[in-house]
Amino acid sequence: MSVYDLRKHLEKLESIGQLKKLNGVPLKHVVGGITDRNAQKYGPTILFDNFEGYPEGFRVMVGSMCNADTMAAVLGLDGKFTKLGLADKLAGIVNTLGEKQKNFPYQVVEDGPIFENKLMDEDVDLYKIPVPEWHENDGGRYIGTGIFQVHKDPDTGWVNCGTYRVMQHDKNRVGNYISPGHHGNLIRQKYWDRGEPCPVAFVAGAHPLFYLLGSSDVPMGVDEYSWAGALTGEAVPVVELPKTGLPVPAEAEIVLEGFAYPDKKCLEGPFGEFTGYYGGGIREEYYVEITGMYFRNCPILLGSPPGPLPNDCSFQFSVMRSANIKAFLNRAGIPGVKDVWVPECSNGRSMIVTSITQKYAGHATQVAHMAAQCPPGALINKMSVVVDDDIDPSDMEQVIWAMTSRVEPNHDIDIVNDCWSNPLEPMIRNEDKAVGKLATSKAVIKATRPFERLGRDKKNLFPPVVKGSDALMDKVDTEYGEIWK
Ligand SMILES: Cc1cc2nc3c(=O)[nH]c(=O)nc-3n(C[C@H](O)[C@H](O)[C@H](O)COP(=O)(O)O)c2cc1C
Repeated sequence: MSVYDLRKHLEKLESIGQLKKLNGVPLKHVVGGITDRNAQKYGPTILFDNFEGYPEGFRVMVGSMCNADTMAAVLGLDGKFTKLGLADKLAGIVNTLGEKQKNFPYQVVEDGPIFENKLMDEDVDLYKIPVPEWHENDGGRYIGTGIFQVHKDPDTGWVNCGTYRVMQHDKNRVGNYISPGHHGNLIRQKYWDRGEPCPVAFVAGAHPLFYLLGSSDVPMGVDEYSWAGALTGEAVPVVELPKTGLPVPAEAEIVLEGFAYPDKKCLEGPFGEFTGYYGGGIREEYYVEITGMYFRNCPILLGSPPGPLPNDCSFQFSVMRSANIKAFLNRAGIPGVKDVWVPECSNGRSMIVTSITQKYAGHATQVAHMAAQCPPGALINKMSVVVDDDIDPSDMEQVIWAMTSRVEPNHDIDIVNDCWSNPLEPMIRNEDKAVGKLATSKAVIKATRPFERLGRDKKNLFPPVVKGSDALMDKVDTEYGEIWK
């Protein structure tokens, strides 16, 4: 067993009290309802088993990273973290991965547990796997939520793993939506430009670290397997699939493979999306005919449906994106950056809050614009807020206090037009989508005290904050804390 075996990870979760097992829950909507509620409560990992009509042991796992304990376990980090502490730790790690990943290319092995069951060509039957219908208004069963999809660049051989939703159409076809600019889309187009079908592998159950990296901003040209290797210190053992030759983790739980064609499309959606809306509706999307299906004995589907916020994927999105933005600002040499938080309720994308220790006039504006436009922060970001270092950017009460007391709206809010967005964004009108008008505006908000009022101009000092001393408030908490328990 390598560190990438999901079953080893489940043992770890059990040992830290973060695994809950449930039996006999209806796949239609109820698994999804529990998943949504669990995410709202920052709950543990849940393993569902014994679905009606399926053999015992065919399981569905959700809640893989809805709190700091489960996410730290996925990352292989020991110890207790706050969410901001985890993002900060991860920011430090992210900046070492670029160098380290070169030492951890994936390792091809001959065989692995993923080949315990093989269904080829006409024997492929996706109905063998229990797949929840996550939300009441979804258009069908989505086998791909906590998934990642493998593509290989035909020019360079670069392997990309990306998380893109996958709808099950029938026994051997799945529909796929990959938004413009995403790596899977760019690679797929290269095959089609050559007049060739695009080979695809879908890994629908595996260690959640792959799902985390598949849904993160790993730079173009870098494969997520080598980032996983750099994170854990162990190269990822992969097998090459019989039909496409694509590499997938040897200890994966469920894998599908096939080819995508430019002229094979069918209706996809609606699907409860990460924005909290059904923004994409129903549209024609490419589908993939599955010609190879592989699963372990007693396989585990990894579910992580987007939907009402916070949802199953928003916590990991928030931590990872906050870490990536902070790592970017550090790499760029910007001084005084204390913390970055991308709130869960902003779907881990739409709002970025950065706290800084102001060093010079113009510093706050520089940081807010950079966070708003840097590669990990730019997509569908509607607001980038910069606050002083006395504000905890993960505490929305404090952030809103800063936004309402340290902002002069006609001066401190810049509106930037024509920014990178996505067709799922609910504010984009259908007629604009139809003509590819997908860019949106964003607000860059300086919610810091004016730099010139921090000390130089004694007459114009910003008013002092009303706040109990640490000694007083510690005493209150220790001696009177019972009142609020
Ligand atoms: C649960 C979940 C579902 C997602 N679904 C999609 C999707 O359907 N299409 C898409 O383009 N991105 C989707 N994403 C976002 C991408 O995974 C993410 O932007 C990632 O960085 C893309 O990887 P890439 O840069 O290698 O293309 C999803 C993310 C999560 C967590």
